[in-house]
Amino acid sequence: MEEIKTLPLSKNIHPDVNILKYIYNKSLEDPESFWRKVAEDLFWYEKNGPVFEPIDSPPYCYWFPYWKTNLSYNTLDRHIESWRKNKVAYYWEGENYEKKVLTYYDLYKEVNRFAYVLKNLGVKKGDRITIYMPVIPELPISMLACTRIGAIHSVVFSGFASYALAERINDCQSKIVITVDGTFRRGKLINTKKIVDEALNYTKSVEKVLVIKRADIEVEMMEDRDYWYDELKPSSYPYVEPERIEGIHPSFILYTSGTTGKPKGITHGTGGYMVWAYFTQKAVFDINDKDIFWCTADIGWITGHTYAVYGPLLAGATLFIYEGAPDYPRPDRWWEMIEAYGITILYTSPTAIRMHMKYGEEWIKCHDISSLRLLGSVGEPINPEVWNWYYKYVGQERCPIVDTWWQTETGGIMISPQPGLALVPLKAGSATLPLPGVDADVFTEDGKSAKPNEKGYLVIKRPWPGCLIGIWNNHERLKSQYYSKFPNVYYTGDFAIKDKDGYFWLLGRADEVLKVAGHRIGTAELEAAFLSHPAVAEAAVIGKSDPIKMQVPVAFVVLRPGHIPSPQLRIELINHIKETIGPIATPQSIYFVNKLPKTRSGKIMRRILLAVIEERDTGDVTTLEDETSVEEAKRAYEELKRMIEEIP
Ligand code: WT7
Repeated sequence: MEEIKTLPLSKNIHPDVNILKYIYNKSLEDPESFWRKVAEDLFWYEKNGPVFEPIDSPPYCYWFPYWKTNLSYNTLDRHIESWRKNKVAYYWEGENYEKKVLTYYDLYKEVNRFAYVLKNLGVKKGDRITIYMPVIPELPISMLACTRIGAIHSVVFSGFASYALAERINDCQSKIVITVDGTFRRGKLINTKKIVDEALNYTKSVEKVLVIKRADIEVEMMEDRDYWYDELKPSSYPYVEPERIEGIHPSFILYTSGTTGKPKGITHGTGGYMVWAYFTQKAVFDINDKDIFWCTADIGWITGHTYAVYGPLLAGATLFIYEGAPDYPRPDRWWEMIEAYGITILYTSPTAIRMHMKYGEEWIKCHDISSLRLLGSVGEPINPEVWNWYYKYVGQERCPIVDTWWQTETGGIMISPQPGLALVPLKAGSATLPLPGVDADVFTEDGKSAKPNEKGYLVIKRPWPGCLIGIWNNHERLKSQYYSKFPNVYYTGDFAIKDKDGYFWLLGRADEVLKVAGHRIGTAELEAAFLSHPAVAEAAVIGKSDPIKMQVPVAFVVLRPGHIPSPQLRIELINHIKETIGPIATPQSIYFVNKLPKTRSGKIMRRILLAVIEERDTGDVTTLEDETSVEEAKRAYEELKRMIEEIP
């Protein structure tokens, strides 16, 4: 555990752990006043009643339940009325170096236009709208148009395939899909609209499809269902009055993988989410008016929602967003853009850093990236080796790194260095301390606080403003998933340790959820996708360690009678996964087996599967599975090894 003390960022930053502790304690002692004060930076139509109201079962609470506000108003109108009116909100670059610049005033006008079109299509407060498109300015524009009129957006990452898209449309019964004709990735054309058309074969709720011109290609348009946005867009800029939205009205749904075959529609509210996005943006990124902030995550994930749209815009910051691949046309694309735009804060994932590390620092050295002043990491644990490379070559031993731990469910950053409040000494590989309001702890299996350096489960012991308000369509699952492993606390599903200084070290998932290049992929969801292929009788998916992506899915498949293992079938199954879930879930390998190793109670012995493919010897295996004797585990291991060697 190497310690690196970094320099303070600006004069008003206190490199003092005591200041942070003081603020932290205040937030827990009197949360009502603490969050009221933060909320007062933002605009509310009404501020009636308490800041939060506990509800006893499950132990979470309603935030700003009787207050009224509007996310779109706070991200746009509030700035239009200030000197920020003509400040740049977004710099955008496409893969082929196309460029767009939108000031806050431009963005405001485009959002009003978009909201006007949605209203004309009959969209009302509470309606669900699915948005499926790459990172182009119309993505944040359409999200902000939804929140302006109280419609609930559900952005589906554009790398998902038609079946996954259909499942997400059906779950929340979207009335409208907003998409593009096509897009480019690594120079290759992707027919986005075609994927939507396929998905719509499996859905009934969608009444209209709005198509934005991006690739300028010919697409099929169904009469009375599909409309070009350009043809509905008014030439003037009509003002659309923002709806007055209750604090607990859902603002968006974002689907994420869990431990069952069906993705969960994580639902966020309005008041609490807004306060959390705004507060964390300031506390962690210490954002100011000179910054150009770049969060490299796709807006289709929570990181992009909170730190490429809502957080920075609430704070009145200038953002940079990029549509394409990080190494296209050359491995220095990122460094080239950082230099060109003078980006000051870079927020990315360990997977991306490892990829650049593999290309080598020579690609950085041919650019002047001295504009950077702060670096961030998110999505997976960042190992000290990668942390140090990031610190040395990207941060040039000058920029502090904020390793930010959080989840789709938490709405925003929970554990991280907080240079916007006070910068504590950093330790390479630790996310350091919880943010104000976050009562984090590490529990042992029996629900007691673990001792320093003892591994356990990360839990949050009281509600915080950014907490999810529900799982769409499935309130029961909210309880069973998050509030039942330990009574009265939020269970994160992550392993962690807390060291003697109270610093948190995140150690990865404790459940059957994989982290592939920072994306969450449920093994159960992948297994369900395998089972939907007619040749498959049984499937087990596990995550194999990978030097770049952290984990990659590997599948073990038992075929139905009459089907014979072959290289062609393997390719067919891989394509089946690509076409149902999407390329991000592509298994690295598929092993055909006659049977899966199982415990007496029928549970798949996943750790045996892992030991075999990671080629660990049997010595390791014996202690791996509970419920199973040493002999049984060894036998299962040997048998599996033989099978995967014998079957092509
Ligand atoms: C899971 C949540 C939250 C934005 C991106 C991912 C892992 C996230 C860190 C970190 C170690 C991390 C956890 C968590 N994770 N950040 N800084 N260090 N692990 O959101 O897809 O909801 O995944 O990502 O395992 O539970 P997500």
